[in-house]
Amino acid sequence: MTGTVVVGTQWGDEGKGKIIDYLAERADVVARFQGGANAGHTVIVGGETYKFHLLPSGVLRPGTLNVVGNGVVVDPEQLLAEVDALRGRGHAVANLRVSDRAHVVMPYHKTLDPLEEALKGGLKAGTTGRGIGPAYEDKVGRTGIRVGDLLEPETLRGKLDTIVPMKNKIIAALGGLETHLPNDLFRQATQWGERLREFVADTSALLDERFRAGARVLFEGAQGTHLCIDHGIYPFGTSSNCVAGAASTGTGVGPRQLTEILGVVKAYTSRVGTGPFPAELLGPLGDRLREKGQEYGTTTGRARRVGWLDLVMVRYAARVNGLTGLAVTRLDVLGGMPELRVCTAYRHGGKTLREFPASMRVLAECEPVLQEFPPWPAWDGKGWREAAAKGLKALPADLREYVAFLARESGVPLAILSVGAGREDTLDLRGN
Ligand code: IMP
Repeated sequence: MTGTVVVGTQWGDEGKGKIIDYLAERADVVARFQGGANAGHTVIVGGETYKFHLLPSGVLRPGTLNVVGNGVVVDPEQLLAEVDALRGRGHAVANLRVSDRAHVVMPYHKTLDPLEEALKGGLKAGTTGRGIGPAYEDKVGRTGIRVGDLLEPETLRGKLDTIVPMKNKIIAALGGLETHLPNDLFRQATQWGERLREFVADTSALLDERFRAGARVLFEGAQGTHLCIDHGIYPFGTSSNCVAGAASTGTGVGPRQLTEILGVVKAYTSRVGTGPFPAELLGPLGDRLREKGQEYGTTTGRARRVGWLDLVMVRYAARVNGLTGLAVTRLDVLGGMPELRVCTAYRHGGKTLREFPASMRVLAECEPVLQEFPPWPAWDGKGWREAAAKGLKALPADLREYVAFLARESGVPLAILSVGAGREDTLDLRGN
């Protein structure tokens, strides 16, 4: 019985989807615990590319149970579209369970998201527009619709009759022109309920049952530590807890079940949206890295900002998540860079900061302390795959020094190295 949590250590887009897919091979259950359709995971299997926003990444493996936990905000339209798309490609999707306690992203949340953003001025986070913030606001404000409500017409009707007029007032006050009608939403939501019925379950009880039977459970984090509502760059992050502890609250599994906590570190840094980014790489070198890494959002298609690996961020993530291992991704992308640097600390007001500051004002004033590293060669995908098959020693010595430095500095041992998008391009150093 193991509970492995996979979280991002940076600003999301660390390549968690690929690591999860790799680990899912040996997992009996994959569970998502936070976020919603703001996430975008790309999984490449047998040359086929799959993009998921809500479905857990183990869904392509028929023998793996996939759980959407209570901590996730579920957009039923998006979830059903992903199920339909997979079924259209010949996957049965019989292995999916959605928590009856998960909150629903309603159409009015998607109306409110851009309206709120438009009025936020300097507080704008550059959201994905998927209604995530407004859905979590309703959850905390106790005006949310839960997945279980979709299966209880009377409950749903009562809630919508109360909540929708409130939302219409807010939409109008924010300058929105759309009016949502309780009748239409009721019809739509009961249809979602009918289609989702086969998947809805008490997933906490289901996970408990599986743990008792000795299952290996993989908890799939979305976004990343520095987007977390508590530990991230408030107010520029997302609206959920993205750290390992949320795997417990977001699935209804006790924290003692979380036995392995893997932090995914992209070999460099990227972020979408606004806010300070001390190790940001601008100019031709940044453009080159963005192109080589194809750093464009899975959900929004937006070009991501890129920068050097930032160890202040990774050390912080190691602490707040209690990481037991690092999974370093996209090492191949750095191959052939004309120069290579790592941000080891920040300089602020004549002082050296080793801890990530809470204040966005301070963070915006931070200058990166950069250490140079010798770059390793550019190989084609085949070169990396052949090296991965032979093991760590076949990788370039400069790359090995780079990742050893990362492990030393963060105080977390290396667990997995990834040198390409495919399952084959993965070195598992955990010795199990
Ligand atoms: P929201 O989650 O759509 O409310 O967006 C809030 C902030 O989090 C924005 O800066 C988004 O770009 C960012 N964000 C949300 N999800 C992801 C993700 O999966 N990867 C990277 N950034 C994300």
